Amino acid sequence: MAAIIDGKQISKDIKEELKKEVAELKAAGKNCALAVIQVGNDPASSVYVGNKKKACEYIGIESVAYELPEETTQEELLGIIDKLNNDPAIHGILCQLPLPKHINEDEVIQAISPKKDVDGFHPQNVGALVIGQQGFVSCTPAGIIQLLKRSNVEIAGKNCVVIGRSNIVGKPMSLLMLRENATVTICHSKTANLKEVCKQADILIVAIGKPQMIGADYVKEGAVVIDVGIHRDSENKLCGDVKYDEVFPIASAITPVPGGVGPMTIAMLMNNCVEAMKMYS
Ligand code: GUN
Repeated sequence: MAAIIDGKQISKDIKEELKKEVAELKAAGKNCALAVIQVGNDPASSVYVGNKKKACEYIGIESVAYELPEETTQEELLGIIDKLNNDPAIHGILCQLPLPKHINEDEVIQAISPKKDVDGFHPQNVGALVIGQQGFVSCTPAGIIQLLKRSNVEIAGKNCVVIGRSNIVGKPMSLLMLRENATVTICHSKTANLKEVCKQADILIVAIGKPQMIGADYVKEGAVVIDVGIHRDSENKLCGDVKYDEVFPIASAITPVPGGVGPMTIAMLMNNCVEAMKMYS
């Protein structure tokens, strides 16, 4: 039977630590501010952006909202980013993805100063992660490292299998586990014998984006299972990429959905904002 890795509690702990640190910085005359840009009004993005603003407020980080219409042009958006890059009162810039189709996402990501790139998406920060230099790391994978460390899961020397190779989760996750001295295998939609590969994992990190795809037959007895997915099942209940009820009895530890990986992303975004302010202002 698995221990439940409680992301809700761990993210709360991190937010409390940050709140205290931000209060101390404020007392020393240092304020921290995050610019949050949303283009259009995709309902899911609005929920995420709203949660990010709420977390800022709780911790004591000022959030400066840019709610831009769907028709905003690439040039207008780049103009705003340029202004924010040069504003010493702004420490982090977050542009919520996905952007409307007429906007070139890569160009927008590259326009954000790497020093204010609290999402860790800029190629300079991604490159820094590859070669072991300091830089901002994508928030969801950084949060998973915190979940593992704060749950006393040993990483060094373990076989880690990451399913998924996205720029936001799979790739940075694999690099972070490598940095922690795990032996890392990256799987994806073209992987042959996925089940057999997954069964070798001491730590299985699932970021496929397919509801309840991973059952007990993919999991080694005693493995630690991290579920990055979040979906609605046929009864409109939240579920992950993992069949939780089936995997729970054989894993040694598992993240639930909701309340596992999800809350960690915002906690790490807040952490990156505070780091940006401390390092570059
Ligand atoms: N869209 C989905 N996840 C994210 C995220 O972590 N950051 C941004 N900027 N957009 C997202």
